[in-house]
Amino acid sequence: MIQIAPSILAADFAALGEQIQTVEDAGAHLLHLDVMDGHFVPNITLGPPVVASIRMTTRLPLDVHLMIENPDAYIEAFADAGADWISVHAESCAHLDRTLNRVRSRGLSTGVVLNPATSLSVLENVLALVDFVLIMSVNPGFGAQKFIPYSLQKIEGLRKMIDRRGLSVKIEVDGGVSLDNLCALVRSGAEVLVAGSQIFGSPDPGAVVRQMIDRSSGCFDGGQDEVT
Ligand code: DX5
Ligand code: ZN
Repeated sequence: MIQIAPSILAADFAALGEQIQTVEDAGAHLLHLDVMDGHFVPNITLGPPVVASIRMTTRLPLDVHLMIENPDAYIEAFADAGADWISVHAESCAHLDRTLNRVRSRGLSTGVVLNPATSLSVLENVLALVDFVLIMSVNPGFGAQKFIPYSLQKIEGLRKMIDRRGLSVKIEVDGGVSLDNLCALVRSGAEVLVAGSQIFGSPDPGAVVRQMIDRSSGCFDGGQDEVT
C-alpha cells in the first residue's frame, strides 16, 4: 500500500493544528516534519518543542526528516518529543552506522536519506540497518522546487537493490511530488510519497490528499505517469 505523507513545511504555521487535522481526516498515513538547522541546509524550521506540540494534536505517525549537522546530538531529543520515524542524511553523518544504530536503539523506524547527487553505493553496507531509505528528488532546504527527473532511475535502482537482497526496506521520496508524477514514482518502486506544496499550497488540502490516495491505488491499472 502506498503511504501519503503531507509535509507541513508548506502549511500555514499559524493554523498548524487545524491543517494537520484536515490531512489526518482526509486519510493521510503519516506526517512529514522537516527539521532544518541553517547549516546543513540554507533554511531554518523547527525543533523538538514543536514536534512535541504536534505529537499532542495528532495520532498520525511523525516522520522526522533531519536536515541538520551532527544529528547524533539531537536524536534523543526528537525521540523524546514523540518522533516515530527518524531519518538522517548520509551526507551529514561521519559515522553513519553508529547514527543509524542510535535511532534504532530507540525503537524508532530508522531511515537514511540521500541527496540527489549522492550515489546509491553509500547504502551498500547500511541497507540492512534501516527500515526505509528517503530519496531526495530536490536539493533539500525548500519546498515547492522542481522535481529532478533522474530521481526515477535512482528509485528503480534502489528497488532492485532491496529486492535482490530480499529486504523489506521501504522507499520514500521527497521533493516536487505531485499528482502528475505520483504514478511514475509508484511504478519505479516508491512506497511513501512526501508532498508539501501540492497539498498545503492548495485551497483544499484534504481534497488533494484524497486524490493522491485514490490515484496511487490505480497506478498499476494504466494511471497517469506524466513527469513534470
Ligand atoms: C525539502 C523538504 C521537503 C519539502 C517538500 O527540503 O525535505 O519535505 O517539504 O516540499 P514540496 O513537496 O513542495 O517539494
Ligand atoms: Zn522532507
